[in-house]
Amino acid sequence: MIQQSLFDADYPAAPPTEGIKYAGSKLRLLPQILWLAQKTGVKTVFDGFAGSTRVSQALAQCGYRVICNDKAVWSKVFGDCYLKAGSKKKYDQLISELNSCPPKDGWFTEFYGADASVKNQDIQLKRPWQIHNTRKLDGIREKIDQLELDPYSKAVALTSLIMALDKVDSTLGHFASYLRDWSPRSFKSMHLEVPNIICCDDVHRVTNEDVFAIAQHVEADLAYYDPPYGSNNEKMPPSRVRYLAYYHLWTTICLNDRPQLFGKVNRRLDSRDEVAGSVFEEFRRNEQGKFIAVEALHRLINNTNAKYIILSYSSGGRATAEELDRVMNDAGKILDVIELDYRRHVMADMTWSKEWLRNTQVPNKEFLFLLQKK
Ligand SMILES: C[S@@+](CC[C@H](N)C(=O)[O-])C[C@H]1O[C@@H](n2cnc3c(N)ncnc32)[C@H](O)[C@@H]1O
Repeated sequence: MIQQSLFDADYPAAPPTEGIKYAGSKLRLLPQILWLAQKTGVKTVFDGFAGSTRVSQALAQCGYRVICNDKAVWSKVFGDCYLKAGSKKKYDQLISELNSCPPKDGWFTEFYGADASVKNQDIQLKRPWQIHNTRKLDGIREKIDQLELDPYSKAVALTSLIMALDKVDSTLGHFASYLRDWSPRSFKSMHLEVPNIICCDDVHRVTNEDVFAIAQHVEADLAYYDPPYGSNNEKMPPSRVRYLAYYHLWTTICLNDRPQLFGKVNRRLDSRDEVAGSVFEEFRRNEQGKFIAVEALHRLINNTNAKYIILSYSSGGRATAEELDRVMNDAGKILDVIELDYRRHVMADMTWSKEWLRNTQVPNKEFLFLLQKK
């Protein structure tokens, strides 16, 4: 049986969350994720691929204890800020001190800033920010280190800085290529604000691990898995989102380590695919002819110490629907499937578990599966 509904009409409204522009962010799916989590009646949720942390933020505000994990360093910074940093009021003075930092010409300006008034410069095509903003970045980033802040205050300062930079960039939402012409927002002057920290006692955990290092021991009733999808574009299989390569600049701002750079967009050397790729971004098959990414997902689901799993999947991803179905049925029972077609703005809640298989030939469909593990 398929119930169709107009987008979010039948789902609870999600609480407000904050985040950078992020490929694969589940902002639009928060009502459905919360609805599935609510069905299980669980209290603790492991968000294994937290990314922007929007899902963790929403779950925390709905009263769940959250274990927020991602192997990207910026995601840990966001998690520490939104889930661990305490009261928002505590940080007013810090953020106003950072806003009044004198701008300076420094390392970020040298490699990532350009002067919009200088016309016909090749360099302009390869820079994500205008120099009035990279100068501010240089001043503020130096100040953050000088202040020798405790880890949570530092996470608040860095999150606030990254959020402000994200609002004045000249990119398509990542740092793998920059826009040819300056975006209108890049002319604005960045301004830091205190992030919307979720004030709660010390109940949540934020980790910065490879998901395999933590899934087996995690003490959670439900795991939410939103791994990189890869791409099913057979002509260009490597054309998928590679998170460490796409967001290399957020790593550099968090670490302030002035890394060795390469390529047209000045990427960190350690964000090269050979060293920084995730097994979930792998587009090749193994010797048995199975997709490596799908086998990794299989291993992960089998090894997860939680009774329920909510899994995100896109019809544009590497895994074929049949392969995913095999993996899920091997690991447990599919209790619910929600399908979202962004182009038609229609949701379908399919209670008959095989129905979804027919709909995966259409691109741009997102699926959410609720699994009960064997
Ligand atoms: C689709 S995004 C998650 C988006 C997130 N749900 C949100 O709403 O912002 C996938 C995330 O998986 C992370 N990731 C990739 N491989 C990983 C691994 N082996 N362990 C932990 N995180 C990983 C990436 O850093 C990226 O943030």
